[in-house]
Amino acid sequence: MSKTIIISNRLPVQLQISDGGLTAIPSVGGLATGMKSVHSGGESLWIGWSGLTDEETPEALETEIDNALKKHGCAKVKLTEKDIEGFYFGFSNRTVWPLFHYFLEYSEFELDFWNTYKAVNQKFADAIIAQSDEGDTIWVHDYQLMLVPQMVREKRPNTSIGFFLHIPFPSYEIFRTLPWREEILEGLLGSDLIGFHTYDYERHFLSSVRRLLGLDVSFNDIYLDHRVIKVDSFPMGIDYKKFKDAAIAHQQSTKEKRSDFQIKLDDHKASAPDTKLILSIDRLDYSKGIAKRLNAFEYFLNKYPEYKEKVRLIILAVPSRSNVPQYQLLKKEIDELVGRINGELSTVNWTPIWYFYRSLPFENLIDLYTSSDIAWLTPLRDGMNLVAKEYIATRTDKTGVLILSEMAGSAYEMNEALLINPNNFEQQADTLKNAITMPREEQIARNMFLQNRLERYNVEVWANEFMGALNRKKEGSEPFV
Ligand code: UDP
Ligand code: G6P
Repeated sequence: MSKTIIISNRLPVQLQISDGGLTAIPSVGGLATGMKSVHSGGESLWIGWSGLTDEETPEALETEIDNALKKHGCAKVKLTEKDIEGFYFGFSNRTVWPLFHYFLEYSEFELDFWNTYKAVNQKFADAIIAQSDEGDTIWVHDYQLMLVPQMVREKRPNTSIGFFLHIPFPSYEIFRTLPWREEILEGLLGSDLIGFHTYDYERHFLSSVRRLLGLDVSFNDIYLDHRVIKVDSFPMGIDYKKFKDAAIAHQQSTKEKRSDFQIKLDDHKASAPDTKLILSIDRLDYSKGIAKRLNAFEYFLNKYPEYKEKVRLIILAVPSRSNVPQYQLLKKEIDELVGRINGELSTVNWTPIWYFYRSLPFENLIDLYTSSDIAWLTPLRDGMNLVAKEYIATRTDKTGVLILSEMAGSAYEMNEALLINPNNFEQQADTLKNAITMPREEQIARNMFLQNRLERYNVEVWANEFMGALNRKKEGSEPFV
């Protein structure tokens, strides 16, 4: 029987070796959280990196690792420390990530990174070939693996290969600065179907293909030798039911069953019932605009001092890519900013910012989403931003206000949110005021539209639409002569 093989750098779980043996930690990030829902419902095999390098894995543990991954429907690609340095911390996160998020000045063009990226992409392609049979469908994910489609195509010319990019594809003017731009495009063109979150990313990609490779492009078809490659946009949804049900269960749970975290949030509400909680959740990443958000919050409190002691900003910043210098600098900047703003504005009764630098279990995320009056998400550039969608899905009584950056892919589908430009402090201060004072009926009216859309276009529909388009391509594919 043919199967679907999902392939991404990050698996839904990360393995760690501790005194007690192997532990599997759920992965953070939109790709892992979204695809987990798709994977758990089906018959797919998910291939990726286990989280452990060869150097930290005693040989005696190999079988135990394979078995632990198998329980989650996963299989591993073995990577060395050097691979992780050059491929993951290097080319993926010091070259491609900043470039594709328009942080041109952070992007490093190092030949060593590129060579390791190629070698590691080949390892992933080899793992696919070893684990798959003719007739299987291969679904490759994200910017870490852009060469894999062509590498698999070379060995398996008739296999159906889909690729989905979870981050923005930048405009031609940005993309063309990459020294290995043609190789990246050729790698991606090994696919039969290439998917993006938004129509803009799709258009940017097609424009680069036309201008850099000189290929024929007609609407969203690319003509290459005897093949036609389809390009389309598929905005990723969330597992709406999972978030909604968790929020309902959370509201119905008795006081005794509430988490310590929730008890703290409840105590806070009880002691300061008029204080509005404003929430932001992001990986600690410069693309998320966390520092600007903190500055904008200070600006807001100075512009509208009547809200001092009446609002609290909760920042959940999840540790991410901490070996990359830009992330270390950002951590320092955020620590200092939070310290300075709290130092300057706190009173004996009030700390303006609660800052958590850690990842939280799912239940605590639900605690935060359901307890917060406002979600304030200000990425400077973001492929999608699932947190925005998750917040709305947990609002069971339909109250709550979402303030969302126009630069997030999700803004295209969330017009009823309060959309802002994260660089415009004046607008953000006024929007915060507007959110705090928004009448309940208006909140409900806006969220009704948002929830209906998120429920209809959930992650399952997203995956089915992508796989449907890939299968149609496979069945109807006439070679182009
Ligand atoms: N998330 C998580 N644990 C946390 C904080 C966040 O699993 O402690 C999840 C969150 O629920 C969301 C994902 O991480 O599904 C973040 O995805 P998003 O698209 O917002 O941003 P990304 O991290 O992919 O850039
Ligand atoms: C984004 C990327 C994913 C990545 C995730 C977490 O969502 O699109 O590919 O897995 O961030 O980043 P990490 O570097 O920890 O995998």
